[in-house]
Amino acid sequence: MTERRAMVARYAVIGNPIAHSRSPAIHAAFAAQTGEHIEYGALLAPPEGFRETVERFRSDGGSGLNVTLPFKEQAFDWVREQGGVLTPRALAAGALNTLRFGADALLGDNTDGAGLVRDLQERHGVALAGASVLLLGAGGAARGVAPALLAGQVQGLHVANRTLARARELVERLSDARATALDWSRIAQAAPTLVINATSAGIAGDGLELPDAVFAGRPFCYDMVYAPRATDFLEQAQRAGCRQRADGLGMLVEQAAESFFVWRGVRPATGPVFRALREHAA
Ligand code: ATR
Repeated sequence: MTERRAMVARYAVIGNPIAHSRSPAIHAAFAAQTGEHIEYGALLAPPEGFRETVERFRSDGGSGLNVTLPFKEQAFDWVREQGGVLTPRALAAGALNTLRFGADALLGDNTDGAGLVRDLQERHGVALAGASVLLLGAGGAARGVAPALLAGQVQGLHVANRTLARARELVERLSDARATALDWSRIAQAAPTLVINATSAGIAGDGLELPDAVFAGRPFCYDMVYAPRATDFLEQAQRAGCRQRADGLGMLVEQAAESFFVWRGVRPATGPVFRALREHAA
């Protein structure tokens, strides 16, 4: 028993709140499918207790963590302070969702952008090359995915945020002529082929106020939030005439698969896990 336990690598998702996270179920499904011997739990960190919770998990022999709200930026700073390695995509985002411990150097990575791009292109058939994207929000979630959208050869990336200064900051950080900051009051003037909601408005409970013109006639609208019922953003998108719509469940599964690959070197099949979660939620 002791021997078997020693062979099991331990992972978890850390956040606050964390009780409703789907990550433990997703990783349990990946482990069953690939035969990898892992355990994956959920860690609630107090708002001021991120680093203590991570350091305890690591010194207890944990192999890696997924990081979720509100700790993605803190995780980035922590890896830097520890002298760990940050992947180029983590550096571009300035935020992390994946930590790897173990014999090698501490590694900080961000798989959110890769997860979004894979979900859009492979599950939903959206071509990013040449697309004009309207990205709503300029917080941690938007920062995590913007570099991957640019790497996907989009033709333009308009970042619109309620607080314009934050949109400008993000665009400056991207330092790419295709990325521009858009004033929230001019949001209807963009004519994107893809609208992506990366705000926390749905989660925080205060509504996102958008003119219907943002959606009318658009080919694809995507909400990075996943909820069992359609989000307000997706309901408005449908009412206002956005032709195809999707929520963030696929991104959630894809970013998890990418983290699993970072940890285990094995890429799980995401289709069956996505379908099981979707059916379970229905
Ligand atoms: P996250 O890590 O989820 O991105 P965050 O860094 O707190 O969280 O950022 C939240 C994002 O949602 C911000 O872009 C925020 O806009 P502001 O920068 O103006 O605060 C956006 N947001 C939250 N509630 C919103 C609302 N009701 N309407 C529009 N944008 C909203």
